This record gives sequence, structure tokens and C-alpha cells, in this order.
Amino acid sequence: MVAQIPLLTEQQIQDRVIELATKLNSDYDGKNLLVVGILKGAFMFFSDMVRRLTVPMAVDFMIVSSYTDTETTGKINVHYDLRESITGKDVLIVEDIVDTGITLNAIRQMLLQRAPASLKICALLDKKERRLVNVPVDYVGFDIPNEFVIGYGIDYNNNYRNLPYIAVYKKEG
Ligand code: IMP
Repeated sequence: MVAQIPLLTEQQIQDRVIELATKLNSDYDGKNLLVVGILKGAFMFFSDMVRRLTVPMAVDFMIVSSYTDTETTGKINVHYDLRESITGKDVLIVEDIVDTGITLNAIRQMLLQRAPASLKICALLDKKERRLVNVPVDYVGFDIPNEFVIGYGIDYNNNYRNLPYIAVYKKEG
């Protein structure tokens, strides 16, 4: 048996996206913004977010994996890299969850070597208790407890990404 315990409603998420976008529109005013979505988990957050951005911007994506089940493997695989050069650009990484920080730290180190003008991170969810690697997260949607979550782009074994809300995923029995 699998239980889904509601954590964040569709309305709560959409309200927070608007708040974050308002802050980003002010912080990136007059900048050369490239928004980088980390697939697959961030696809829904990314598309809701960029729709609310009013500053001139471009988008690009990376496909990165770090998880096989509900525990981190401790290493990441880059399956698809950016197509755009980021040198001299103001880059904003958009990620679904920061958990141990291993994934974002690896992505951040990789992108810093390409000499962007600036590199910031926006994550929808932050599980601060689980952090193993210290990575600066500049914009956070919600701090959440140490639970495995699904929905709004976030998966368990590639399922549940379509849910418009976020729930805690529990296997029972
Ligand atoms: P980290 O490297 O441990 O920070 O893991 C980050 C990645 O692990 C996220 O981008 C997610 O893809 C995945 N992840 C972490 N926590 C969860 C969760 O609760 N549900 C689903 N995926 C998760």
C-alpha cells in the first residue's frame, strides 16, 4: 500500500511561485539572464516560474540524475548538457529539491568553470536537515521536513510527476 499525505497545495505552490518571480524580476532587472532548468524534476516549477518573469531572458536545460530509489547514490550523471554558452551571462539554476546538496554542488562547480557573470540557485523545496554538502541556495520556495515527496514534477521511480500538488510518499506495510 502507498499513502500520499498532502504537503503543499496547488494554490500554495502557485502563490509562492509568484512571490519568487517578483523577487527575481527585481534582482535581475537590467541583467543578461539565462534560466537553466534541471530536468526532469524541475520542469513544472520551471515553466510556471518563467511564465511569471518579465525581465528579458533565455532558457536552457540540463538532464542530471543522482537517484536510483529513495536514497542518493552520491554521484551524478550528466545526460544532457547546456547548448548555450554561459560565459558572461547571469545564470539562474532552477532545481526541484535540494536534499544532500550533492547534485547542485556538482552542477554549480561544473558551471562556475565556464565563467558566468553570476551564478545563483533557485530551488522549490529545501530539505535542510539532510544537507551533506554546503551549497548556497539563493532562492527557496519552501523548507520541508526530511520526508520523501512526490508531485509537481517530482517523482518516485518516474511516476507521480503530473500531480499539481506536492505530497509525502509513504510505503505502508
Ligand atoms: P541531492 O543531490 O541529495 O541534493 O538530491 C537532489 C535530487 O534528488 C533532486 O533534484 C531530486 O531529483 C532528488 N530528490 C531528493 N529528495 C527527493 C524526494 O523527496 N523526492 C523525489 N526526489 C528527490
